[in-house]
Amino acid sequence: MAESGRLQPACRRVKGSDMSEISADRPKKHARGSFTQMTEYVLPTHANALGNVFGGQVLAWMDLCAAICSQRFMGSVGVTAGIDDLSFEQPIRVGQVVRLEARVTASFRTSCEVFVDVRGEDAVTGETWPCVSGFLTFVAFREGRPVSVPELVVETPEEERMRDAAIERRSGRLAKRVHSAPT
Ligand SMILES: CC(C)(COP(=O)(O)OP(=O)(O)OC[C@H]1O[C@@H](n2cnc3c(N)ncnc32)[C@H](O)[C@@H]1OP(=O)(O)O)[C@@H](O)C(=O)NCCC(=O)NCCS
Repeated sequence: MAESGRLQPACRRVKGSDMSEISADRPKKHARGSFTQMTEYVLPTHANALGNVFGGQVLAWMDLCAAICSQRFMGSVGVTAGIDDLSFEQPIRVGQVVRLEARVTASFRTSCEVFVDVRGEDAVTGETWPCVSGFLTFVAFREGRPVSVPELVVETPEEERMRDAAIERRSGRLAKRVHSAPT
């Protein structure tokens, strides 16, 4: 169950690298309050000619699972701003189960990063295996503009490690934005 908390009113638009715009009295939320799980079953309509689920279908489920997680955390509708590189480790076949888990790893000014882990499952034998995992960034929107998101409360050393790694990834994304801007 997501924890409640009022968001701050819309903040002034500044470019994403400026963390000084974060309001000091924004609400605080734990990651566990927005943890999200989804289960899907691979049907023939989800599969390629080899009988494996399409990568794009898995990506759509990841986006959905992460979007629900981000909305629970942000207390606001969000848009997917970016999805980091993905590599598919092992396939999931028709008749098998797709298990998705999403958790917030860090919150910034108007955005948060969500980690999604996807595993395959054979529901008959109970066997599970890694399929793909990735990081997605969501930006909170209200009345057509990005708004401030809650502060993530980090409770465990593992959460602290994930938060610090997310801050590193964010720097890389922002640097890429600068380099790819039209001249
Ligand atoms: C994402 C979007 C809101 C960014 O707009 P912008 O004018 O560049 O806004 P800002 O520079 O103020 O950035 C807003 C936030 O987005 C983040 N952001 C922008 N581009 C990003 C990217 N490629 N990856 C991760 N985060 C990104 C910024 O870091 C910032 O977060 P912060 O406030 O927590 O630091 C805008 O590009 C957009 O609306 N894109 C379309 C989103 C969409 O429709 N997605 C659905 C699939 S089409």
